[in-house]
Amino acid sequence: MNSLIIYKSTEHKNTEKIALGINGILKGKLVKAEEVNTDQFNMYDLIGFGSGIFYGKFHKSILNLVEHFEKVENKKAFVFSTSGQGKENYNDSLKSILESKGFDVIGSFACKGFDTFGPFKIFGGIAKGRPNENDMKAAEDFAVKLLKKNS
Ligand SMILES: Cc1cc2nc3c(=O)[nH]c(=O)nc-3n(C[C@H](O)[C@H](O)[C@H](O)COP(=O)(O)O)c2cc1C
Repeated sequence: MNSLIIYKSTEHKNTEKIALGINGILKGKLVKAEEVNTDQFNMYDLIGFGSGIFYGKFHKSILNLVEHFEKVENKKAFVFSTSGQGKENYNDSLKSILESKGFDVIGSFACKGFDTFGPFKIFGGIAKGRPNENDMKAAEDFAVKLLKKNS
């Protein structure tokens, strides 16, 4: 199986840690959102999209990218995010956009990520030390499940 992970990680590289952890299992290609070449999508069976969450949404570079996609066929996808709250339902909107473009979204992963947004900064931030070892293990287990779904 050929996989591609497209991610944007700006604040504390929280999402990059998760992207690396997932890719350590999938052993595919990892690219930053600004470096992606959508012409090469047909080379991949599975494409992952991830970023931190900003005001409840994925990073605009990921959203802009997917909103401009042409429709695809027979293409699987997964979504992942890190955020101060770590809520998995932050992923739902990206999942819906991908589904509207024809992707079959087979997985969604979320965990907490160190968050120094606005007022949190004064108190040294929230979700300190996240993603931690347990989060990395959960991300790897998620990737193993993706592999199983594709075997
Ligand atoms: C401007 C801004 C807005 C944010 N909005 C949210 C939010 O709505 N919900 C949340 O849980 N975390 C929020 N966060 C925290 C980030 O999602 C979190 O730090 C994330 O792990 C950053 O990922 P990165 O280090 O990969 O860029 C926000 C952070 C910033 C700087």
